[in-house]
Amino acid sequence: MIDELVRKTRTVRRFQEEKNIDPDLLTMLIDMARLGGSARNAQSLKYMVIMEKKTRDELFPLLAWAGYLPHWPGPEAGERPAAYVVCLLDTKLQKGPETEAHFDLGIATQNMLLAAAEQGICGCRIGAFSGEKVGKLFNLPGQYTPLLVVALGYPAEEVVIEEIGAEGDIRYWHDEQGGHHVPKRKLEDIVLVASAFQEK
Ligand SMILES: Cc1cc2nc3c(=O)[nH]c(=O)nc-3n(C[C@H](O)[C@H](O)[C@H](O)COP(=O)(O)O)c2cc1C
Repeated sequence: MIDELVRKTRTVRRFQEEKNIDPDLLTMLIDMARLGGSARNAQSLKYMVIMEKKTRDELFPLLAWAGYLPHWPGPEAGERPAAYVVCLLDTKLQKGPETEAHFDLGIATQNMLLAAAEQGICGCRIGAFSGEKVGKLFNLPGQYTPLLVVALGYPAEEVVIEEIGAEGDIRYWHDEQGGHHVPKRKLEDIVLVASAFQEK
């Protein structure tokens, strides 16, 4: 069951934009993020949910989509996210180095995306944006650092996981029907034997 859910939890960048996500469901996703592990239990992450169309339209141009698809400008109008969760570091709650908050963020957003996938909703984490511009858009007080934006919606594209080719190309690609292919490394290529590097 967890295997199926993890496989279903794919990055999607084309959505049924008109299909709104129930606000209670979005709140549930934040709750799943809240329950994730946290270094020093600092829990220094906060979340801003964006549902309003006007704000979505303001945020969209600040985000960079699919760096490996340079000829694809990102989702067109009608296929853009139905909601966003802007993940912020509250520096007043931060305990250790910022990297620790980044570990927390990976856990929190994966919880969020797993719970979303169970409800038929997919998402895309976006780290490629200017924190300064996003901060300005929301007039954020200085204590908040935008770390990641999670775009969400009901999917409007097929995503296929495939085994990485012999040439080792990790770039995702679009087929002629618009299907999105994501190469993943083989299991045997990522498992290291503990004794392999030890002196005999
Ligand atoms: C920390 C992080 C940052 C990411 N930033 C972006 C981004 O800025 N733009 C984008 O289109 N995708 C972004 N992605 C999505 C990755 O490209 C995606 O996870 C990868 O292609 C593998 O696909 P999968 O999530 O379906 O396994 C990001 C993913 C992670 C985990």
